[in-house]
Amino acid sequence: MSTTAPPLPPAHGAAATAVAAERRWTIAVGVIIALLVLMMVVTALHWASMPPSRVETIDVKTLHLRGEFVENNLGTALDPDGKVVVRLVAQQYSFVPACIVVPAGMPVTFRGTASDAIHGFIVGRTNANTMLVPGFVATFTTTFHATGEQLMPCHEYCGTGHEAMWAHVQIVPAQDFLNRARGGERVDCVAR
Ligand code: CUA
Repeated sequence: MSTTAPPLPPAHGAAATAVAAERRWTIAVGVIIALLVLMMVVTALHWASMPPSRVETIDVKTLHLRGEFVENNLGTALDPDGKVVVRLVAQQYSFVPACIVVPAGMPVTFRGTASDAIHGFIVGRTNANTMLVPGFVATFTTTFHATGEQLMPCHEYCGTGHEAMWAHVQIVPAQDFLNRARGGERVDCVAR
């Protein structure tokens, strides 16, 4: 018993063209699949051999109970070393705090995480832009040059309330910010 497929019957005209087109398409799809598999293998090997240099993890279950991201530690702080640090948490469907104050013309470090799903944010048309992934702390430093108010929408689809999830960012003159932040208080602009 032979296991090879029986030879195709001799084809003529339109039938021959159709068979040739099918063959070409089979080869094209085969090449595409092979390239995709190769891409997965190469990126997997690359990530396995060169993991990202600075991964900071955090326990989602105790986020609100202790550590850096407890509620009264959120907002903008002037750390003892003079660094301006914004700490925030994203959750379905809001940011805490919902109104963030930052100084203009000074480096500002954002430290954020998410408590439920993957969120993200971008501040207006600035380059402040990151994903917030549960279990990980996202951090970046940027400087805002112009004072004013910017919208900060969530830009990772996180559920039915995604499009209503945003915060405001007030960029204030550095001296105003320093006056408010001296004494270690957490600064925000949430209406109370
Ligand atoms: Cu949070 Cu989209």
